[in-house]
Amino acid sequence: MDNKRIIIAIDGHSSCGKSTFAKAIASRLGYIFIDTGAMYRAVTLYALEHGAIHSGIVEESAVEAMLDDIDIDFRFNPARGASDIYVNGDLVEGKIRTIEVSNCVSAVSSIAAVRTKLVAIQQLMGQKGGVVMDGRDIGTTVFPDAELKIYMTADAMVRAERRYRELTAKGDDVTLEEVYRNVVSRDEADMSRKISPLRKADDAIVLDNSSMSVEEQMAWFDREYHRVVGK
Ligand code: DC
Repeated sequence: MDNKRIIIAIDGHSSCGKSTFAKAIASRLGYIFIDTGAMYRAVTLYALEHGAIHSGIVEESAVEAMLDDIDIDFRFNPARGASDIYVNGDLVEGKIRTIEVSNCVSAVSSIAAVRTKLVAIQQLMGQKGGVVMDGRDIGTTVFPDAELKIYMTADAMVRAERRYRELTAKGDDVTLEEVYRNVVSRDEADMSRKISPLRKADDAIVLDNSSMSVEEQMAWFDREYHRVVGK
């Protein structure tokens, strides 16, 4: 494929397969894949473990006060073909996708100081291009000049079923209703928050994958990628 190493921004709703799609694209192009949701989840996990969240209520000032103590980095894990996330040197990849973290992450990610810190790290990681970054505000705030912006969505129940299968396969004790409620309430919170709400960038192209296989999504991507890089 083309040698020009562009920035590919992927935004969209919760649990619509953004990370799976982004990871597949990155491996096809030899790009770095950055899952920005993992960064918001890692801050949320830290806040949960350090007393800034009680009974699901996020204490904003306590989260803000601990931000300087949180050092986030990614390290490539060849077994997964993607990078694992570390907080202060501890591997937290396996702990950030629980329903407990999912239920608090929208509140944590609406805190201005959290976004300022994480957006700065993301901009640094992507500045040389050759990255596929997925999140909620990549095409609108983090990289408004990204060469290729994709806005992903899928039917909410289809997304809940996919996430439910993932969680129960890991042994998590959740119900489909609970997962569906989380998916819908996160969409609402992500789209209505004051700072950098989830919205489609004007120049983003929409991918609704409700009834598409991963292969069909990759074929769709190849067409769009070639259109952008001009080959
Ligand atoms: O992609 P995900 O579901 O793992 O993201 C978890 C949460 O993090 C999501 O509900 C909203 C927040 N998030 C965000 O506000 N901005 C991003 N760029 C990525 C995620």
